[in-house]
Amino acid sequence: MRTALKMVLPLIVSVAVVSGLFAWYQVRTEKRILRSDLSRRAEILGETLQENVEPLMDHAPDKSLQRLVERFGEREHLKGVAVYDAGGKALAITPGIAREFPSWPEVVKNAAGKNQEQGEFVQEKSTDQTGKEEDLAVHILACPLHRDNELTGALALFHDTTYIDVQVAHTLRDSLVNALVQTLLITGLALILVRWTFMRPLKRTAHWLRTLRTSGASGAKAPPALPQGQGEIFDQLHQEVTHLARDLSTARATAEEEARLRDSGASIWTAERLRVSLHDKLHGTPLFVVSNREPYMHVMNERDGTISVIVPASGLVTALEPVLLACNGTWVASGPGSGDRQVVDANDRLRVPPDHPSYTLRRVWTTDEEDKGFYEGFSNEGLWPLCHIAHTRPVFRPEDWLHYQRINRRFADVVLQEMEGTESPILLAQDYHFALLPRMVKDARPDARVAIFWHIPWPNPEVFGICPWQRELVDGLLGADLIGFHIQTHCNNFLETVDHALEALTEWDRFAVNRQGHVTRVRPYPISVAFPETLPNEAEMRNAGAERTLICEELGIEASLLGVGVDRVDYTKGILERFRAIERFLEQYPSFQRRFSLIQIGAPSRTDIDRYKNFLDEVTAEAERINAKFHAGRWKPIVFLKRHHSHEEITRYYRAASVCLVTSLHDGMNLVAKEFVASRPDDRGVLILSTFAGAALELSDALLVNPYDIMQLSEAIHSALEMPEAEQAKRMQWMRREVREHNIYRWAANLLSDLTEIRIEATDRPEARQPQ
Ligand code: G6P
Repeated sequence: MRTALKMVLPLIVSVAVVSGLFAWYQVRTEKRILRSDLSRRAEILGETLQENVEPLMDHAPDKSLQRLVERFGEREHLKGVAVYDAGGKALAITPGIAREFPSWPEVVKNAAGKNQEQGEFVQEKSTDQTGKEEDLAVHILACPLHRDNELTGALALFHDTTYIDVQVAHTLRDSLVNALVQTLLITGLALILVRWTFMRPLKRTAHWLRTLRTSGASGAKAPPALPQGQGEIFDQLHQEVTHLARDLSTARATAEEEARLRDSGASIWTAERLRVSLHDKLHGTPLFVVSNREPYMHVMNERDGTISVIVPASGLVTALEPVLLACNGTWVASGPGSGDRQVVDANDRLRVPPDHPSYTLRRVWTTDEEDKGFYEGFSNEGLWPLCHIAHTRPVFRPEDWLHYQRINRRFADVVLQEMEGTESPILLAQDYHFALLPRMVKDARPDARVAIFWHIPWPNPEVFGICPWQRELVDGLLGADLIGFHIQTHCNNFLETVDHALEALTEWDRFAVNRQGHVTRVRPYPISVAFPETLPNEAEMRNAGAERTLICEELGIEASLLGVGVDRVDYTKGILERFRAIERFLEQYPSFQRRFSLIQIGAPSRTDIDRYKNFLDEVTAEAERINAKFHAGRWKPIVFLKRHHSHEEITRYYRAASVCLVTSLHDGMNLVAKEFVASRPDDRGVLILSTFAGAALELSDALLVNPYDIMQLSEAIHSALEMPEAEQAKRMQWMRREVREHNIYRWAANLLSDLTEIRIEATDRPEARQPQ
């Protein structure tokens, strides 16, 4: 209480001073108004009386003048009236005035002397009939009297002004009482506010910080959840403190984990280990990454102009962010967000992540037309369906190809610009959007070590051969020192494509291609996720059942078993097949009707491309059709959540689900499968995984399915939901061990260590390349 009082003391003093000043001002104004009102009234009365008195002056002094004086003397606040001759002798006078002013007052004398009306407030002591002294407060208005323009005397009106003082005193009292009440009220409210809004949350925050400081990383639920509902004012502070706490917890957990791993002799890769290892290998050389998709997209709200940040739904982003966080560097990417330009500096750069800046994002701008050709056209209508065997026909337009070349050139130039001043820089180019870029960079910077990772499948040479520009694409890729794919099959397919497409020496024994003296290694690096090593916090520890109940409430559905699917809405993901398998399953096993629901999180993707837009409609319609067929009460078979979800939101669904369905028709790796596994420290839940996803090679304890086989998929759903807990646990533990060991840090460590070990030979100089 004392502290709160101390906090509000300056407020009390300020309120009291302000209220006091206000009271003083009010009193002054009131007095001024009352006085001017009285003067005005006196003047009006004076004029009337003057007209009546002047004709009577001829016979003065006489009774009629005295009667007039007495009649007027009876008005409100009028103390009396006197008529003087020009020498100051009273011709008629109200008796009381004669006593108080035995001779004409100075102001009357002056008015007669100057022949001009005058008024004055007089405040003095006078003696009454008994000789007692009393305060005299009057206003005297003196008007000269004339006869034929000759001054004949003066008329004086005496108004009692004590009522003004009384009224002003009342006002002063009321104002002071008001000021006092206001001060008390404001002080009271401020005290309550300070206690509730500041003291309590501060105390709780302090307590929370103490818990955090005194609890060990492994024992603590790291970090302990922040006290909720403390008002907006604390949000920012809490955000900062949470980050600080998270860093602290992570640092502690990392240190403990490192120690534990050292102790157990295990060789798990962690962010810290990757950082140290890269630091040794790169000797402080920064890492450069280039991809089309950016890790943070700024979106402007058109209504109020505010800018928010989203992490785009992309496996590439999920995988690379932890690497950049671990080793700093610069990530060059497209900036398609409506707020992207507003937040960069003059060099189109910004530090990210927004709440914990750790590396640089350099944005590259493209026009709508360029996007249409490069991104929508060549990349996503050409290369994407070409590499994914999902039976959507690729489209190759010459104008799209021109844009593809132009944008590869632009990104290469930006990368080169960013690399200026860095000796032997390391570049990790990403994905099918930049097949030409490795050659462009390497030609300009032969000292650079360049790797490109191809995140999607690489088809066999017959399939790839339909691309009219296969030679240029393969040649562009071979500019890299290292090409990474998810699995060995894709490496084999690539080497075969090289054999088919152009003249180069393919060295199958060491998986390399020698083209005009420059050697490119081709290796599989199964990409992964950052397996969380810290223990989950309180909310994350909520058991699957409790999370399921909460989610069902939020979605307004009733279900006792949940399945989850998380995908960009893309025709390669097998979403329609999944829905049809759910339909089949509910028909085959009607006892699961009213019990099992699939929550399908579908981030709308590439919707400016017709195939994707139509596919989104198709998926929506299919969900509606199946729901209409079975739907009963608050239960429905499929809840299709057609919007972007944050990583935190998705994790809740993973934890609540009995089964996760990954049914890609073809997929390079598919990180949803690995994220699901990484999100289940409770060792519960079953993963159904397509054999056509790269992840199937590592996650062989999933229920592997052919998504085209609806019957098999339906049976897999049944087996998953009926699987005994012990078996779920056994499978999940194996899969968790796999993902934990082969996490994203190991991926980056393997790839970057292979890259740094490559000797950059003299024949890599551009001039050494022969024109073909
Ligand atoms: C796949 C690709 C990524 C791409 C992602 C999202 O995972 O390999 O390169 O970023 O899809 O697609 P989008 O077109 O939205 O970037």
